[in-house]
Amino acid sequence: MADFKISKRLCTAASLVRDGAVVADIGTDHAYLPIYLALNGKIKSAIASDINEGPIERAKENIHKYSLENMIQARVAPGLEGIEKFEPTDIVICGMGGELIVKILEASQYVRNKNVRLVLQPMTTAKELREYLQNGFSTIAEKIVFEDNKIYQILCVQYVGDLEPLSEIELELGKLNIQNKEENFDKLLYSAIAKKQKRYEGLKLGGYDTSEIEKEIQELEKLK
Ligand SMILES: C[S@@+](CC[C@H](N)C(=O)[O-])C[C@H]1O[C@@H](n2cnc3c(N)ncnc32)[C@H](O)[C@@H]1O
Repeated sequence: MADFKISKRLCTAASLVRDGAVVADIGTDHAYLPIYLALNGKIKSAIASDINEGPIERAKENIHKYSLENMIQARVAPGLEGIEKFEPTDIVICGMGGELIVKILEASQYVRNKNVRLVLQPMTTAKELREYLQNGFSTIAEKIVFEDNKIYQILCVQYVGDLEPLSEIELELGKLNIQNKEENFDKLLYSAIAKKQKRYEGLKLGGYDTSEIEKEIQELEKLK
């Protein structure tokens, strides 16, 4: 492994990129993820893409610092616009809100391709992202990272077309996370229970019906 350190969160996302991939890192900022993959000989080439000029300037400086201009191309573009001309096999979108990731995926036909792998790390609203992914994207792997006292969920998916619908709990915590009792699953579960308990307290205080939320808490408690 080359001596180029990235966060545990980005490192876990990078581990889900396939060997020999042409990777597109959308919202790349500093281009750490493609640089890490290139220095470790994991990929064929990469596109470091960002909507803003500032991050792409930073990305270009870092790419130059590690002499990776022949491996990593940096470009300014919104989301996946025009990505098809680079023919990426693996697309990474990390560090954005789940709703923005949905918007980016929704706007692209390229991701509906059975050979393209997506590695997604929503900062918020993972449940809403999973809801959207029910439109034909099958989950290949899920990871939970605990870093700097924060819990991050990472989803690795691929378009298949027809899918079994997920339950409410699977949408919230991830079917594979539950099935495989992924590392840090307990932290994700306890955090979900704590959020629901807070909502329960609020509803109770306001004199609202709490039967639904109580049921949801009980269902989560069963996974302990
Ligand atoms: C918080 S940084 C994440 C950087 C890196 N991916 C990571 O996870 O550490 C988010 C980046 O996404 C970029 N961004 C925001 N909206 C975007 C969009 N619609 N398309 C492409 N990039 C976007 C921002 O400019 C910023 O550089």
